[in-house]
Amino acid sequence: MKLAVLFVCLGNICRSPTAHGVLLKKLERAGLAGLVRVDSAGTGDWHIGKAPDARTQAAASRAGYDLSQLRARVVCAEDFQRFDYILAMDQDNLRQLQAMRPAQFRGILELFLRQGGVDTGEVPDPYYGGPEGFEQVLSLVEQACDGLVRQLQERLR
Ligand code: 4NP
Repeated sequence: MKLAVLFVCLGNICRSPTAHGVLLKKLERAGLAGLVRVDSAGTGDWHIGKAPDARTQAAASRAGYDLSQLRARVVCAEDFQRFDYILAMDQDNLRQLQAMRPAQFRGILELFLRQGGVDTGEVPDPYYGGPEGFEQVLSLVEQACDGLVRQLQERLR
């Protein structure tokens, strides 16, 4: 693997696993599957070891993404050695990651949407809302993953 991307949200059961599954599929379609490692993690520890939320899996599944094999974990200090991109779903996640960031980290720590060229800023936390929130997450994630794949493609040329 030449590059590695980590997506981070709060629980690692809604937003970041969606981005994880969507990016894997888009990398596969772009012929980059073997070149980029993808993972996801949460800043909170409530859901360690759990599969993505049923509502997240349902929205992803309708669009052709299988998230059933993913399991939640917490972001850790070593992640800053293992990943070139650490992409946060919202400002709160980003602040927590900035506080963990070691001085030697040379990768990109940024809001996922900003890095993917989508201007709306944050991927809103869908956990306590209705079903439309999960569709909105998927739509934002798909747009930003398209931008990210173009960028990864360019770096790997
Ligand atoms: P996520 O969503 O950060 O996108 O995985 C959440 C999942 C769980 C909780 C909050 C947000 N929670 O409070 O348990």
